[in-house]
Amino acid sequence: MVELLVKNRASKKLLDILNNAIARELQVAIQYMWQHVQWSGVKGFAVQEELKKIAITEMKHAETIAERLFYLGGIPTTKPEPIFVGKALKEMIKRDIKDEENAIKLYKTIIEMAEKEGDTTTAFIFREILEDEEEHHDTFTTLHEDLK
Ligand SMILES: [Fe+2]
Ligand SMILES: [Fe+2]
Repeated sequence: MVELLVKNRASKKLLDILNNAIARELQVAIQYMWQHVQWSGVKGFAVQEELKKIAITEMKHAETIAERLFYLGGIPTTKPEPIFVGKALKEMIKRDIKDEENAIKLYKTIIEMAEKEGDTTTAFIFREILEDEEEHHDTFTTLHEDLK
């Protein structure tokens, strides 16, 4: 009975997409952390603190989403999406912009899905996370301009 109730908290589709979100949060948390460690060149000085700060935010996102997924009856994945570190700073940031764009797209989909299921809380959580991702996107885009 209890199990049945837990299972009814969200659709399988929503649980799966939340796990996709966790996998990519884990990916970027590690990606930005290793980029922070491996940066090079004078311009890297300006970038490294941002990378560190954003990496920590991404880890917090992974945790927030995992808590929500677990509440809804799912098991959070431990596997990140493929991580890209890169060599040149410009190459790193270019990829990071793409990853933030993907996050923005995915989280808008999640908000829509959650709302369709009447899951206001999940939609609310992802609106807050989306705001962070848009900020990251803005930061990386600005940094990339400067690297030209
Ligand atoms: Fe994130
Ligand atoms: Fe982000």
